[in-house]
Amino acid sequence: MTEVLRPHAEDQYAEELAILAKEDDRPRPPGWRLSPWAVTRYILGDGDAITPKYIGPRRIVEVAVATLATDRALLLLGLPGTAKTWLSEHLAAAISGDSTLLVQGTAGTAEEAVRYGWNYARLLAEGPSRAALTPSPVMRAMERGALARIEELTRMPSDVQDALITVLSEKTLPIPELNEEVQARRGFNVIATANDRDRGVNELSSALRRRFNTVVLPVPATLEEEVDIVTRRVAQLGRSLALPQTVTATEEIRRVVTVFRELRSGVTEDGRTKVKSPSGTMSTAEAISVLTNGVAMSAHFGDAVLRPSDVAAGIVGAVVQDPVSDRVVWREYLETVVRERKGWEDFYRACRDAG
Ligand SMILES: Nc1ncnc2c1ncn2[C@@H]1O[C@H](COP(=O)(O)OP(=O)(O)OP(=O)(O)O)[C@@H](O)[C@H]1O
Ligand SMILES: [Mg+2]
Repeated sequence: MTEVLRPHAEDQYAEELAILAKEDDRPRPPGWRLSPWAVTRYILGDGDAITPKYIGPRRIVEVAVATLATDRALLLLGLPGTAKTWLSEHLAAAISGDSTLLVQGTAGTAEEAVRYGWNYARLLAEGPSRAALTPSPVMRAMERGALARIEELTRMPSDVQDALITVLSEKTLPIPELNEEVQARRGFNVIATANDRDRGVNELSSALRRRFNTVVLPVPATLEEEVDIVTRRVAQLGRSLALPQTVTATEEIRRVVTVFRELRSGVTEDGRTKVKSPSGTMSTAEAISVLTNGVAMSAHFGDAVLRPSDVAAGIVGAVVQDPVSDRVVWREYLETVVRERKGWEDFYRACRDAG
């Protein structure tokens, strides 16, 4: 185990990537480490040596991978916690062997993050030169023929977004100060992510939007699928955080995922009872963190078996974001749904005790 808290995907899965590269005899687009077929296999797993990273419809992954082999960039869109960031990291790792060329979009992202900046000490001492220029991740990706990742594209100010238009349509980045330009090498492309819920998806200028193919990542379709995702991720996280071994009761995971799904969709799994949805997102990602937290609780303070009391506080915390309205929603769900359910008595009590 490495000392790094969170290794990059290309390091963590170096062995799998090496196996795939060795066996891969299909055509690779210029600049790609693997063929689109092998990239898809890396992402979805093969039931053997290659573990699944993204769990979801194969078609979605195929469309995403195929897009990256064209001259259009890829925009992964979806609700919070639908693995947009996760998928983008793994795509970059498999295609370019490097997932680190990353721009984090925020309201404060400056144009330098998409184009280039200057090392001012050098600029003042030597004047403008290539040595005084500090390339952005996008510029480095162009020079290397690799994938650049842009997180939360729609949170960036629109003039910064517009700086991407030339890059995506001309595949060049002009540097007027030096009377030069950087031309993208083959293999360069951009994967951006954007959140459905955030203000601003519509603010993506149509000029920019035309340069992207949008792929919408769905929330897990069925309870089984979501339980599968959560179970795998909780086990992986437990290993990488070196949490002591616990008996991760599938039953407990199922229960947490059921609560999340019911509150998210506004109806119980059997479709019979309507429930109110809280203001938070109740995403898969949050279910994963509630359970990981529960595993830590039971490992360090409990009897190493994941029990309702280990997850109750986490669930209440995830549901009750707004102290007034969400508390009402939670109370109602607890009393009308949880209380009546067979086998959920301990869970009901634990939730009541947790607040
Ligand atoms: N379908 C899925 N397959 C595998 N892992 C998933 C899936 N859905 C969610 N996850 C897990 O959820 C966690 C969060 O995902 P991620 O951060 O990529 O979400 P996101 O869509 O980028 O959310 P946000 O909009 O908040 O940035 C990751 O640990 C990821 O493994
Ligand atoms: Mg994200």
